[in-house]
Amino acid sequence: MPSPDSIPVAVLGATGSVGQRFVSLLGDHPRFRIAALGASKASAGRPYGEAVSWALDVPLDSTLAQTPVGDVDPRPGIPLVFSALDAAVAEDVERAWAEAGALVVSNTACHRMDPRVPLLVPEVNPDHLELLQHQPFEGGIIAAPNCSTVGLAMALAPLHEAFGIRRVHAVTLQALSGAGAGPIQGMEEPGNLLPYIDGEEEKMSRETVKILGRLENDHIVHADLAVSAQCNRVFVQDGHTECVSLELARSVSREEILRAWTEFSAEPQALELWSAPQRPIHYLSDQCAPQPLLHRDLDKGMACVVGRLQECPVLGWKFVCLSHNTLRGAAGGALLAAELACAKGYLPVAGPA
Ligand SMILES: NC(=O)c1ccc[n+]([C@@H]2O[C@H](COP(=O)([O-])OP(=O)(O)OC[C@H]3O[C@@H](n4cnc5c(N)ncnc54)[C@H](OP(=O)(O)O)[C@@H]3O)[C@@H](O)[C@H]2O)c1
Repeated sequence: MPSPDSIPVAVLGATGSVGQRFVSLLGDHPRFRIAALGASKASAGRPYGEAVSWALDVPLDSTLAQTPVGDVDPRPGIPLVFSALDAAVAEDVERAWAEAGALVVSNTACHRMDPRVPLLVPEVNPDHLELLQHQPFEGGIIAAPNCSTVGLAMALAPLHEAFGIRRVHAVTLQALSGAGAGPIQGMEEPGNLLPYIDGEEEKMSRETVKILGRLENDHIVHADLAVSAQCNRVFVQDGHTECVSLELARSVSREEILRAWTEFSAEPQALELWSAPQRPIHYLSDQCAPQPLLHRDLDKGMACVVGRLQECPVLGWKFVCLSHNTLRGAAGGALLAAELACAKGYLPVAGPA
């Protein structure tokens, strides 16, 4: 149940794959309460339960099912906005809310590489939130990274911090829900794989070095490492798996790498934020782990699950990681970012007038 002083929030793109996750997670959030649901003109004016093709295995709350879907324009009295909009419309809409005074946490790609916008993985770069102070808006924009980038950045962060990373190569096996709520051409039935996801490989390369970069005054100095990715869509409903090879800046033992992962803990854990996993990284020693069906929901679906650490004759080390794309990689990660921003005092009190 939200507390009496709960913060009213809007969910934009509420009918989509990520939007549904927001609606589900916000249903029992202790600080945030849904005050507006926004989607396209095709959905606006209809009860949410009719407009959405609800795909989650938890039931849709009956009150929310009756709530009319609105448009996506700024509204007074809503200081916090979660955007899961189609990328084609998100940029102007998110900027309009930020200009009107709201804090926007965006899952879309449009503002991620803006040097004034923190590209936040709350455990990895919480200090990047300081960029909010340099944005030209009444409110602000926080970007959540691409869903594959999130898992990769979480697995790399403790290794980069402890040993330095020179080069990374990642091959992804990405879930169907990562492509949105609609059908995917070529993936109508089991038995196929698509070796191309538009823009994804470039996003993983450029976003990872921004996230692992360091804050210097009003900008981020990108991390000096090369990231190459090859992205594939596979017939898995939820959970992105990544096979990662990497070159470290110095020679380390297997035990040192495992220790860096298992001891990794950060501000969201220290602050006991509601959406924070108990441990950001779970290393599983079973040779057949991680698997999407078995492990994507570990620690509320908010952990990066790592396994199969091995020496690699090409780059030095290799491993497999898994993260839930619509939880950790989208709605859950955005909620955690908002909780961190609130805890650090970045939430505008009033929002749009
Ligand atoms: N799926 C993932 O795992 C994932 C992870 C990280 C980031 N993202 C990003 O998050 C965003 C949403 O992804 P998704 O997978 O949830 O997509 P989706 O299922 O296609 O949902 C898109 C949402 O945007 C709304 N929309 C579309 N056109 C609109 C318009 N002209 N005006 C207002 N609303 C409009 C849709 O409303 P209607 O239903 O009314 O059309 C729907 O609510 C995308 O930018 C995506 O890149 C997705």
